[in-house]
Amino acid sequence: MSTTLTVNGQAVTVEAEPDTPLLWVLRADLRLTGTKFGCGMALCGACTVHANGSAIRSCVTPVSAVAGQDITTIEGLQGPQAEALRAAWTEVDVVQCGYCQSGQLMSACALLKDNPRPDDAAIDAAMSGNLCRCGTYPRIRVAIHQAAKALPAT
Ligand code: FES
Ligand code: FES
Repeated sequence: MSTTLTVNGQAVTVEAEPDTPLLWVLRADLRLTGTKFGCGMALCGACTVHANGSAIRSCVTPVSAVAGQDITTIEGLQGPQAEALRAAWTEVDVVQCGYCQSGQLMSACALLKDNPRPDDAAIDAAMSGNLCRCGTYPRIRVAIHQAAKALPAT
């Protein structure tokens, strides 16, 4: 079955069963391998992408559910929040092994778009579904605060 969606600003049509996880379409069909597979059960956040601007778990999202939607992956993440987060991630030296980090950035970006000045509780609530085996949580929190400070309050 054909499904048409927009990925990182480009319209794409993929041939896949309707229940194929979006994650497989992104990684296998479109070769966008920055989005990672962790658990396949919406428990770890490694597969987080944006659908029409909201963070979703692509491992449990059938491609048919996002037909016609605007999907953004880490490869296409841009805008002031993304730039501020990337700069802060580098300055704070957040990353350890890196496996979870694209998902972390996707969730952090969705958070800053919704809440430009999140406090610790808001950060923890927004990021609690993104696991990190390397325990980078304290640095992620610092980097999100730093990125928020670099953005104009709205
Ligand atoms: S791979 Fe999707 S939440 Fe873990
Ligand atoms: S940086 Fe290694 S799992 Fe998060």
